[in-house]
Amino acid sequence: MTALTLSPATQGLRGRITVPGDKSISHRALMLGAIATGTTTIRGLLLGEDPRSTAACFAALGATISPLNDSLVTVEGIGLGALQEPVDVLNAGNSGTTLRLMLGLLAAQPRRFFTITGDGSLRSRPMKRVIHPLQEMGAEIWCRAGGYAPLAVRGQMLRPITFASPVASAQVKSCLMLAALTIDGAVTITEPEQSRDHSERMMAAFGADVTTDHLSVTVRGGRSLHGQEITVPGDISSAAFWLVAASIIPDSDLVIENVGINPTRTGVLEILQSMGADITIVQERLITGEPVADLRVRTATLRGTDITGAIIPRLIDELPILAIAAAYARGFTRIRDAAELRVKECDRITAMVNALAAMGAEVTEQPDGMDIHGGGQLRGTDLESYGDHRIAMSLAIAALGVQQPITLHGAECIAISYPSFIATLHQLQ
Ligand code: S3P
Repeated sequence: MTALTLSPATQGLRGRITVPGDKSISHRALMLGAIATGTTTIRGLLLGEDPRSTAACFAALGATISPLNDSLVTVEGIGLGALQEPVDVLNAGNSGTTLRLMLGLLAAQPRRFFTITGDGSLRSRPMKRVIHPLQEMGAEIWCRAGGYAPLAVRGQMLRPITFASPVASAQVKSCLMLAALTIDGAVTITEPEQSRDHSERMMAAFGADVTTDHLSVTVRGGRSLHGQEITVPGDISSAAFWLVAASIIPDSDLVIENVGINPTRTGVLEILQSMGADITIVQERLITGEPVADLRVRTATLRGTDITGAIIPRLIDELPILAIAAAYARGFTRIRDAAELRVKECDRITAMVNALAAMGAEVTEQPDGMDIHGGGQLRGTDLESYGDHRIAMSLAIAALGVQQPITLHGAECIAISYPSFIATLHQLQ
C-alpha cells in the first residue's frame, strides 16, 4: 500500500490545467467501438485503470484495441452479436461500469459462455439490479448468493421488456440498452430520476435506434452500429476536486479547460454555486455530441447547503468532495437521498464520515447521507482511502487546508480514474 504525505497549501491554485478524459464516456467509446463494424478512433480516452479493464475484457472478446498509452486509441470492432467466447475469466477489476454494461452485451450472445469477476470491492457490489431485469428478458446468469460476482452467463436470444428501475442508475439503464441492440423488438427503461445520459447520446451516434421521453428511454433492436470518431471531454468528476480546492484555498484563480458539462452531470456546479462558489463557465461548445466548456474558479467563502432529492444522481460521484467543501463551508450541510453511496467502490458515507471525524469535523452519519457542521479548523492525521479513488482524492484536497500534514494510506487507487492527479497537485503547489 502506498502512503502519501500531503502538506498544507503554500499558495493559491493558479493557472490553467486540464483533467483526464471522462471515465463514463471512455468506457462507452471502447465498448461501442468493439461491437460496431469498422474502426472507431478515440481521442482523449481516460488512460486509467478502469478503462484498461474494459479494453482488456473486449480484447478477450475479440476486438482489436490499440495500446492504451497514446492520445489516440483505435478500436477495430467485431460487429453486433459477434463477441467471441473467451478462453478465460473476464476481469472487470474495480469497475462497476465495465461489469454491468458488459453483462448486458454478454447475456445477448446466443450459445456462448462467459465468466466475469472483479477485485474485492467489485465482488461485494450488488449485481441483482442488472441480473433480475436481464433474467426477465430471458438471460441465463449465475451469481454468488446475494447477487455478487463472480458471475457466469450463457448467452441467449433475449426478449423485449418494459422495466421500471427502482434506482436512478446509468449502469442499470445502459446495461439494458446494450442488451436491447440485438433483440427483435424494443426495451424501455424508466428511472425514478434522470441519471447520466452518455449511453443515449453515444449509442444514437453509432447508429442505434434510441428514443428518449423524460425519464424513459427506448432502444429498438436490429440496427447495426458503425465505427465513429470520438473525442472524450475532460471528466467533470475529476475537475470537481480542483473546483473545491480552488474555492477553499485563498488567492486561487484557476481555469480547468475542456470539461464535459453534460446537464446530467453538472449537479456539482449547481451545488457549489449555491454554496457561494465563484465558478464561471466559458467557451461552451459541443464535441462529439457532448457539451464541453472551460471552468474558471476563484477563491470564495462557502456556506452550507442542502444536497437532497433529484439532484443526487447528477452529482453522485462528487458527494465525497462536496462533503469536504461542506466541512470548509460556514454553517450546516445536509446530504440525504444518497444511500447509493454505500454501494460504490466502498461505503462512501462511512468512509467520509470516519475521515472527517478523524480530522476533527463535526459530522453525523445518516442512513442515506450525513450532516456536516462546517467551519471548524480541521487537523492533520492518518487517513485511509478504503481503496476508493474518489475518497483518496477528496482527502488529498482536504489536506490542502489543514495546518499539519496528512498521511493518506492506500493512495495507489487514484490511478483508477486520475493517474496524473498527484502530478497536477504538485504542479499547482
Ligand atoms: C456510471 C454511473 C454511476 C457512477 C459511476 C459511473 C456510468 O453509477 O457512479 O461512477 O458510467 O454509467 P450508477 O449508474 O450505478 O449510479
